[in-house]
Amino acid sequence: MTKHNQNVAPLTEREAWKRLTAHYQQVRDLHLRTLFKDDPQRGDRMTVEAAGVFLDFSKNRVTDETLKLLVALAEESGLRQRIEAMFSGEKINVTEQRAVLHTALRAPKGASVVVDGKNVVPQVHDVLDRMADFAERVRSGQWKGYTGKAIANVINIGIGGSDLGPVMAYEALKHYSQRDMTFRFVSNVDGTDFAEAVRDLEPAETLFIIASKTFTTLETMTNAHSARDWSLSAFDGDTDAVAKHFVAVSTNAEKVSEFGIDTANMFGFWDWVGGRYSMDSAIGLSTMLAIGPDSFEALLDGFHQMDEHFRTAPFYCNLPVLMGLLSLWYNDFFGAETMAVLPYEQYLKRFPAYLQQLCMESNGKHVTIDGRQVACATGPIVFGEPGTNGQHSFYQMIHQGTRLIPCDFIAFGQPLNRLGRHHDMLLANVLAQAEALAFGKTAEQVKAEGVADWLVPHRVFEGNRPSNMILVEQLTPAALGKLVALYEHSVFTQGTIWNIDSFDQWGVELGKQLANRIIPELESEDQPALAHDSSTNNLIRRCRTMKEASCLLA
Ligand code: F6P
Repeated sequence: MTKHNQNVAPLTEREAWKRLTAHYQQVRDLHLRTLFKDDPQRGDRMTVEAAGVFLDFSKNRVTDETLKLLVALAEESGLRQRIEAMFSGEKINVTEQRAVLHTALRAPKGASVVVDGKNVVPQVHDVLDRMADFAERVRSGQWKGYTGKAIANVINIGIGGSDLGPVMAYEALKHYSQRDMTFRFVSNVDGTDFAEAVRDLEPAETLFIIASKTFTTLETMTNAHSARDWSLSAFDGDTDAVAKHFVAVSTNAEKVSEFGIDTANMFGFWDWVGGRYSMDSAIGLSTMLAIGPDSFEALLDGFHQMDEHFRTAPFYCNLPVLMGLLSLWYNDFFGAETMAVLPYEQYLKRFPAYLQQLCMESNGKHVTIDGRQVACATGPIVFGEPGTNGQHSFYQMIHQGTRLIPCDFIAFGQPLNRLGRHHDMLLANVLAQAEALAFGKTAEQVKAEGVADWLVPHRVFEGNRPSNMILVEQLTPAALGKLVALYEHSVFTQGTIWNIDSFDQWGVELGKQLANRIIPELESEDQPALAHDSSTNNLIRRCRTMKEASCLLA
């Protein structure tokens, strides 16, 4: 079995970790006001630009020495070797014995990435070519539904990585989408999700993409069956209609055929693509249908540019490495439990939700790869909303609460919809937030404004609240690819230092198993013998009673 970094010492025994622990005691109380006053060039110096992404990390609670030690920690943790191991197809997802090759999904045609003795890049491009051909036919109206009508509506049915990436990308790139087509996304097993998605649609014009890596996921399969019933009921149950209105995206051809979808209408991917790393695989079919093959190619190129930067840039000027290290600095040394991702771009409204799975399913782990309890806190809780909406909701806590909440601000120089002064106001707000968080407002400043003494404490902003500012020219498909890859690799950087498996997700299994046990207990005609704890037993009985009452009423 490939064990991670056998030559690397446990985290707390690494030299750089010990030095960071001592260093933290020296710098923990340093205020950003002081750091900026003492170094007038700080805001120019502590920036990095690569692949068209500009990062200002000067408003972080770090000194040059902190950065040096963090970079040393990455080196000592074997990050360089781990990056090579990932890119070259080693089975670094140890607990599932799989390679981790989302980077191969965006490798250019001529590249070579060998897994189990086979170059996988040609397969990737075969699927991309098939997707492009299919997308062109649907978008042009050449692909006809069962009654001969063109497809006007596309519904992606999937959950987790088979939903969050597609829905985020659709929203993010709506500006580039084919506007005479409707795109919807159904994920929840709650029937309301499906019912609302189809209520105003014509089955004859609706195409379903059943997106599931495994093609066994309860939510997706339940929704897929409801979709087939809904569709076929409009075509007198003729199962020939399935071929015109259903396509599948999966790694599991057998299950796809069992469901009744011809594998000619299936777009494959591979077990070396993790669900939350799959939006640029065939799972992105809905994205390609929305924005077209050329824009999809630009998206992949954006991913690839960031991959190359991550793979080749020295750590001290490597965007994903720096962001990963800064996040770890707050998480492990300052005890920050959360981080906020705050895009000042309405089209990125689902980006924080997407990042929740990417970051929290990847790094929400309590044991190291060799099965030992981790020595420090792992992945932070990620949350966020687009600016400026969040400012009128939870920013109060970020400015004046008792918790340290590091923020990533994301902003774009050019708007996609230029409307009067809106964009200047948007940018002014994001810059102001970062400034306010870092420098705050002292009691003296508040008093000087003539505020009554008793009110002064309420009006003080202590500042010293860290943030990154990510600036990109414009939200294009390529820019989105770069941003997603930036976070993917930042997650990998942190997971490598913690020595955890960032690519498995065993934590979702127990709930699935227990739900499968409870389903028949809720559905059985007779009172089932219940052998759960007293609370679960009682709740099951209550749910059965409520269901019986609603059946009687219906
Ligand atoms: O929630 C667990 C999970 O396995 C995710 O990792 C994955 O993205 C999601 O379920 C969906 O899985 P599938 O694509 O196999 O339906």
